[in-house]
Amino acid sequence: MKIAVLPGDGIGPEIVAEAIKILEVLRAEGISLELDVAPVGGAAVDQTGDPLPPSTLTLCEQADAVLFGAIGGPRYDTLPREQRPERGLLRLRKAMDLFANLRPAQVFPELVAASTLRPEVVSGLDILIVRELTGDIYFGEPRGIRTNGAGEREGFNTMVYSESEIRRVAHWGFQAAMRRQRRLCSVDKMNVLECTQLWRDVVTEIAPEYPEVTLSHMLVDNAAMQLVRHPRQFDVIVTGNLFGDILSDEASMLTGSIGMLPSASLNARGQGLYEPIHGSAPDIAGQGKANPLAQILSVAMMFRYSLHRSDLAERIEEAVRSVLAQGIRTADIAQAGEGIVSTGQMGDAVATALRAH
Ligand code: NAI
Ligand code: MG
Repeated sequence: MKIAVLPGDGIGPEIVAEAIKILEVLRAEGISLELDVAPVGGAAVDQTGDPLPPSTLTLCEQADAVLFGAIGGPRYDTLPREQRPERGLLRLRKAMDLFANLRPAQVFPELVAASTLRPEVVSGLDILIVRELTGDIYFGEPRGIRTNGAGEREGFNTMVYSESEIRRVAHWGFQAAMRRQRRLCSVDKMNVLECTQLWRDVVTEIAPEYPEVTLSHMLVDNAAMQLVRHPRQFDVIVTGNLFGDILSDEASMLTGSIGMLPSASLNARGQGLYEPIHGSAPDIAGQGKANPLAQILSVAMMFRYSLHRSDLAERIEEAVRSVLAQGIRTADIAQAGEGIVSTGQMGDAVATALRAH
């Protein structure tokens, strides 16, 4: 199994180092893993002037999976748009056609108190958002800022989805629902936007292929409200790029800790990019404070979706749960009075738990 490892900037290299400890435990058991490290984001700009050097892209395209840390930082904020670290990630997603973005939002029983919502609302929460990642208003043409007939500036973007783009991500939603509680909620704004009328039509057309899945539709404004009112009503949510961007950030905060949440971005060939949902956290970089669990849980997703070893995914997730049950906490998930461990100590604890299971 060939894994491209892209640590990136800020806390990226610190948390990726902890993920590698987990991979080393599995390697010691005889699992064959080839790890190739390459620069991306600001780290790559510093070395080559390009946030996604051709050699890094080639490595990713030839790998079974990409393990990605985080990118960005104040040092790069003044660069032209094309050279900014974020462009490197966007180009990588597009080049590898990573159209299905899976973002689980799960509340671990030990961390219920970390949520800003009441425990009875979030305890037991386990949602998966499937967000389309390579289309929609983010990529539609034409777009720009122009002067209109009245001599006033106007900004415009185009919301566009082809039938095939909707169909392939909707299949992902149904298939994910089949592996879970078999409930799929498709989110759109069909009462106002034609593009999302097509979305609803196509999702409805393929539903008969999945008779075991209960399909519902919800308008995005209602979905935003329902996510905080009664989030446990959802199992899998499938939606477009723009609505998914917003709803997945909302859902992630139900769990109370950005340092806990992994993600997967997949293409039709089964390749995937696995990264925590948070950024490079420049405010805590280099201090050993970052929580590596989102990165470690991203490794679990990598085994599940690209490397076809769900057994290893489950062992890693179990190791994380056992570390939380032991009361081991980085600063971001600690309650007042609880002891705090460093990034490295958290990674060591998960590695030890993994060896024991
Ligand atoms: P951020 O997610 O990096 O940080 C937000 C807050 O959460 C900060 O207070 C940070 O310390 C904390 N935090 C994040 N991850 C944590 C972890 N693992 N453990 C403990 N605390 C953690 O978002 P921010 O500050 O808006 O952006 C910083 C940089 O990251 C920017 O340059 C931004 O463009 C970039 N970014 C990169 C992403 C990526 O690589 N996919 C995603 C989001 C932002
Ligand atoms: Mg976002």
